[in-house]
Amino acid sequence: LWTPANIVEDAIANIRAQVGDAKVLLGLSGGVDSSVVAAMLHRAIGDQLTCVFVDNGLLRLHEGDQVMAMFAENMGVKVIRADAQDKFLSRLAGVTDPEAKRKIIGRTFIEVFDEEATKLKDVKFLAQGTIYPDVIESAATKNGKAHVIKSHHNVGGLPEEMAFELVEPLRELFKDEVRKIGLELGLPYDMVYRHPFPGPGLGVRILAEVRKEYADILRRADHIFIEELRKADLYHKTSQAFAVFLPIKSVGVVGDARRYEWVIALRAVETIDFMTARWAHLPYEFLEKVSNRIINEISGVSRVTYDISSKPPATIEWE
Ligand code: XMP
Repeated sequence: LWTPANIVEDAIANIRAQVGDAKVLLGLSGGVDSSVVAAMLHRAIGDQLTCVFVDNGLLRLHEGDQVMAMFAENMGVKVIRADAQDKFLSRLAGVTDPEAKRKIIGRTFIEVFDEEATKLKDVKFLAQGTIYPDVIESAATKNGKAHVIKSHHNVGGLPEEMAFELVEPLRELFKDEVRKIGLELGLPYDMVYRHPFPGPGLGVRILAEVRKEYADILRRADHIFIEELRKADLYHKTSQAFAVFLPIKSVGVVGDARRYEWVIALRAVETIDFMTARWAHLPYEFLEKVSNRIINEISGVSRVTYDISSKPPATIEWE
């Protein structure tokens, strides 16, 4: 009988049988899949699990702190937080091509993960949040774009002397099943049902060279948009919503002062499979509120636009 409780029970027995008393390493991204694996492994093997969370400087506002609060502080999971913002930003300096940015972010991720993994002694297993659709696709690319979250902790990317065996407890599950299991394991609804976030993070939502100044502005705009979506009960009516930083300056006025500042685009889509998508027909009053807040609260932004492109021909992300 398929119930989340049965699945969890079976998975835990399997993990214990596979792992014994060995140590397991997990790359925790804060996304649904790796979070469910963390919760499951923690329940199965407790302290034998160590997670590595890489802060690449391209995360959403407060995201790193939230991951640490939920897993390390609340659940007592061992999480090593690797603060690698400077490393990512320096590697990305001067790079504007979207695929080049993806490659750099992916490679740097593996490097930081390796560094942390190498410091740990006697790790025998590497856990991954591989789910059934990943197994079917089995390639590290989708729509021609690298899926960094899924490919980052592939054994292939790790040094040869670290011969890990894989633990993939979600391998036979679909996304909706993974979510139900997440709830069963006690993860909060808001984390289990959150919108997808790409592995390269804000890196592919800054349509220019990635700079800290831009990322900081984008993080705040994104936070306002998502906060208002939740308040208006629209978050779960959209499949994915986010802000994009446009490296264009536009004139605005505040009181008597003329401003010449950046542009933020808002993107929200409705989709079942993310292969095709319709732009979300959000209420005008709602968009007005978000626009006003972004322009009033973020000093570097003078204009907000709403993306009314569907996929195809546009993609969901702008890069
Ligand atoms: P596009 O932009 O191709 O996006 O319509 C479809 C879905 O895939 C996500 N996406 C990515 N996820 N690494 C990821 O992990 C990537 O490089 C990447 N590019 C796009 C996107 O957010 C959307 O959910």
